[in-house]
Amino acid sequence: MQSVESKILYNDRLAEGYFRLGLSWKTPEVKAGHFVMLRLSDGMDPLLRRPFGVFRVIGAKGKSTRGTGIELLYRVVGRGTTILSAKRPGESLGILGPLGNGFPAPQKGRKVVMVTGGMGIVPLYLLAQRLPEGTLLFGARSKKETFLLDEFRELGIKIKTATEDGSAGVKGFVTALLEKELSTDTVVYACGPVGMLKAVSRLCLDAGVQCFVSLERSMACGIGVCLGCAVRTINHEARENRNYKMVCSDGPVFDGKDVDWELL
Ligand SMILES: Cc1cc2nc3c(=O)[nH]c(=O)nc-3n(C[C@H](O)[C@H](O)[C@H](O)COP(=O)(O)OP(=O)(O)OC[C@H]3O[C@@H](n4cnc5c(N)ncnc54)[C@H](O)[C@@H]3O)c2cc1C
Ligand code: FES
Repeated sequence: MQSVESKILYNDRLAEGYFRLGLSWKTPEVKAGHFVMLRLSDGMDPLLRRPFGVFRVIGAKGKSTRGTGIELLYRVVGRGTTILSAKRPGESLGILGPLGNGFPAPQKGRKVVMVTGGMGIVPLYLLAQRLPEGTLLFGARSKKETFLLDEFRELGIKIKTATEDGSAGVKGFVTALLEKELSTDTVVYACGPVGMLKAVSRLCLDAGVQCFVSLERSMACGIGVCLGCAVRTINHEARENRNYKMVCSDGPVFDGKDVDWELL
């Protein structure tokens, strides 16, 4: 983990309320599923850093013309992300990271299926880059949100979409697509809204399929100190079979069968 004083390389508007942020960082040792905590101001507003998944590493192998570092995608939802959206290239931002455990590699010969909805797509890009033979199942409310898929198409990964209003792909939830993909040699990686993760996890458990979920909780420290991001997990071997884990330092990626979904 490093604490880096970074410069904003770009902060481009992707669509209404969605931004792509490039941050300078000379040596980001980032793997799929890692996240960073961003300090959005030098003052008290906002006081706490905010967590964001790493979308991709930029400037690797000299490909980027915009600098070396990391790229994040974010949606404006509150005070911190509104402040972030007003920042301009050249301004400084403090990065703490990379944080978290990241997604484990699949066992050899497994069929990889990634399942996501909304901004849950962010940590899956690095995974898709490493596993382009996998399939990405993307769920959204409508076609308007499918612009997030543009970069994935360039990786050559197979993409299937479900929208709630039927304006792109099949009509309905992404879990309907997942049901058709499950076989005993499948491994599932999922990130997105908690309701979706719970449903994905349940489907996988019932089908005997291994499933890794990346959870999101509000985070104050990001490094396992404040205990604010605790989730209850199920320890299948222990006699006292409930315990708590920190999403920031034990996760954010967990085996879906170990999460106590009733409390999320
Ligand atoms: C590991 C991790 C990775 C993340 N990656 C991304 C990403 O790649 N792109 C992105 O846009 N967002 C991501 N988020 C969510 C992002 O951290 C929040 O949207 C951001 O902190 C909101 O800050 P704010 O000050 O704008 O909103 P606030 O004013 O703090 O909150 C606005 C609203 O958003 C809700 N909220 C805030 N944080 C979270 C959270 N962590 N989970 C669910 N609801 C929340 C609040 O309850 C409130 O309703 C991630 C969160 C985590 C924990
Ligand atoms: S955010 Fe502080 S312990 Fe996880």
